[in-house]
Amino acid sequence: MNACIRAVVRTAIYKDLEVFGIIRGYEGMISGEIIPLEASSVANIIQRGGTFLKTARSKEFMSPEGRKKAYANLQKFGIDALVAIGGDGTFSGAIAFKNEYNIPIIGAPGTIDNDLYGTDFTIGYDTAINTVVQAVDKIRDTAESHDRLFLVEVMGRDSGLIALSSGIGVGAEFIFIPEKKTDLDNLYHRLEEGKREKASKIIVVAEGEIAGGAFGVAEKIKQRFPQFDTKVTVLGHVQRGGSPSCADRVLASRLGFAAVEALLEGKQGLMVGMSNKEISFTPFEKAVKQTIEIDDHLLRMVEILSL
Ligand code: F6P
Repeated sequence: MNACIRAVVRTAIYKDLEVFGIIRGYEGMISGEIIPLEASSVANIIQRGGTFLKTARSKEFMSPEGRKKAYANLQKFGIDALVAIGGDGTFSGAIAFKNEYNIPIIGAPGTIDNDLYGTDFTIGYDTAINTVVQAVDKIRDTAESHDRLFLVEVMGRDSGLIALSSGIGVGAEFIFIPEKKTDLDNLYHRLEEGKREKASKIIVVAEGEIAGGAFGVAEKIKQRFPQFDTKVTVLGHVQRGGSPSCADRVLASRLGFAAVEALLEGKQGLMVGMSNKEISFTPFEKAVKQTIEIDDHLLRMVEILSL
């Protein structure tokens, strides 16, 4: 997100605009924690994870009273357009805000989950999946050496895209995601079948998987296959930090730059994204509501490649 903020600030200044940073997103808009930003304010942040403006999930902004206070603060600071970086929550807030007040908003997709419609990738996703890959490669060493079965839980409360990509990237034997019912019978069958040939196994499980996440599936495996040495690793918030990958920095820079240009062209109520290497725009309503289909072919491929 820092790379995106940097691009927004520097593009806006280049275009002779005045720029403010709102601390903790909608929370800061309500409390008036709003600071002027110069080109130098965003120096040396492109390589840093997180956001130097901080972030928060704002309950108050969900109420009309909260949004009223927020709008009053924008007026007080003379702010007449917004760039909102975030995911579902950010854009749902933006929809309510733009419907009540006449304020142009362009959104940039910032979530490690990659679960927004209208962009091939969201800011943070590439870094997160590479973090998972690095961690699971290390776990694989223990799995191999000790002939263990590891269930690795990755982030994705509602989305299995981190699990799917990183699972393919680490050569996982199985990938379980919230969008698909976990087929335990198939798992048991394949564990039976494969137990003589390959002793170590990696199963990548998304946090939102419905059979109980990595711990839930591990319990079922332990009951059925007590002879397996089954372990669980939850990667957690390590996936949401660290220095961003080059792909993420480039994406964030391009989206931040395009967001400011879009506002100047009079666009509003849209999320800027990257679709087939081109900048694209999608209404907030569609970006958050339209579901992203999981390609069954990929899941089938995982089974074939892990034989
Ligand atoms: O929305 C991104 C996400 O990383 C989800 O995958 C995850 O469930 C959630 O955030 C965790 O949020 P928090 O850190 O607030 O618990």
